[in-house]
Amino acid sequence: MIKRTDFPADFVWGVATSSYQIEGATTEDGRSPSIWDTFSAAPGKVLDGSSGAVACDHYHRWESDLDLIRDLGVGAYRFSISWPRVLPEGSGRVEPRGLDFYERLVDGMLERGLDPWLTLYHWDLPQVLQDAGGWPNRDTSYAFAELAEAVSARLGDRVTHWATLNEPWCSAYLGYEDGEHAPGLSDRRQHLQASHNLLLAHGLAMPLMRRNAPSAKHGIVLNLNPAYPASESESDARAAERFDGFFNRWYLDPLFKGRYPADAWEGYGEYVPRVEDGDLETIAAPLDYLGVNYYSRTVAADAPNAPWPSIGGVPFEAERTAMGWEVYPEALTELLVRLKRDYTELPIYVTENGAAYPDRLVDGEVADHDRLAYVRSHIEALKSAAQRGAPAHGYFAWSLMDNFEWAHGYTKRFGLVHVDYHTQKRTLKRSAKWYRKFLLAED
Ligand code: FCB
Repeated sequence: MIKRTDFPADFVWGVATSSYQIEGATTEDGRSPSIWDTFSAAPGKVLDGSSGAVACDHYHRWESDLDLIRDLGVGAYRFSISWPRVLPEGSGRVEPRGLDFYERLVDGMLERGLDPWLTLYHWDLPQVLQDAGGWPNRDTSYAFAELAEAVSARLGDRVTHWATLNEPWCSAYLGYEDGEHAPGLSDRRQHLQASHNLLLAHGLAMPLMRRNAPSAKHGIVLNLNPAYPASESESDARAAERFDGFFNRWYLDPLFKGRYPADAWEGYGEYVPRVEDGDLETIAAPLDYLGVNYYSRTVAADAPNAPWPSIGGVPFEAERTAMGWEVYPEALTELLVRLKRDYTELPIYVTENGAAYPDRLVDGEVADHDRLAYVRSHIEALKSAAQRGAPAHGYFAWSLMDNFEWAHGYTKRFGLVHVDYHTQKRTLKRSAKWYRKFLLAED
């Protein structure tokens, strides 16, 4: 049975959330609308027609939520900043009430012995910036640098770990080409220009954050999705390689090697982004750590008629979560080993990992054995990665509590803690109790 003492004493254990998914209070204290307010108000975009307007009401319940986090026995809390609270016009004027909220939150963490792990951008772009073109507009990268400056100038002396972006692949691809996420566009050219401008935004922010928070650690959070071929055929092997270029290497290569992957660049053809002189040097600024969000893998089959990366799926039997995502912890082990081999020896933290299941609250209990097993098996996978020499230094469960799951609204629950959205009552699920026991147990 896996034990906390199987990991080094300084291994970081935490839980994660994001601003739009939990805060609510979307019109309070000078906050302007974000692209997710607009997107969720449009009919048919969010499955249950809901929005983050109330969510977990964390904006008003943050103190008891921090107590809850402390009582889980974790040492770190990963949260994100709502850009439209801090810079309601996207850039320029700083709204002090927005910064004040995050200052109270951070001080509240420190009072409770929790290390603040701050992410500057977890998808809630100010709508005013989208109105000016959004991420495909290069000005957005410079506006993001203003956000980084404002937040790190205020909190640089207290926040121990900083991340610029959460999952730029989702912001760029799901937002601008796939359309499942805000702003809901279907345009390959915009997707790719957004991806480049997101990376540029990261690179522009890094030196500002370092200057304002010289003793903190600075990094970025990527969602990585290892690709496995659907068969032993040469064509499926190549499909998996292409998927890897589209999803993983498109972000890893610029950050760690200062260039876009040649196969993907060629595959995208006329749609490749406009890259200005010096951009790649800016993007490849040295990091202190890499945050990796891992949920599942992809099994890729060749689909020659589909647009690049020309991949399709094949049906196969597997254990799956309520999202339909395959439960495959082995890929986490292999991913971390590969990151060390191909990219970096820097510390890697799993900054998100977790699962949605159709929970039922019965007599004050949620017996989520499936989630418990998911979390435990991925912690085991992390231990295997460490045994194979990968620099795995921490684990954050996604999520602290059930919350607004983007296009799925409130229909998918990822929390270790159950939220009753009518009463806002929080109830520890079996998985939360297991995590607490795992963290607090003496050997
Ligand atoms: C990740 C997101 C997070 C949450 C989980 C399930 O891609 O970062 O906000 O939606 O998926």
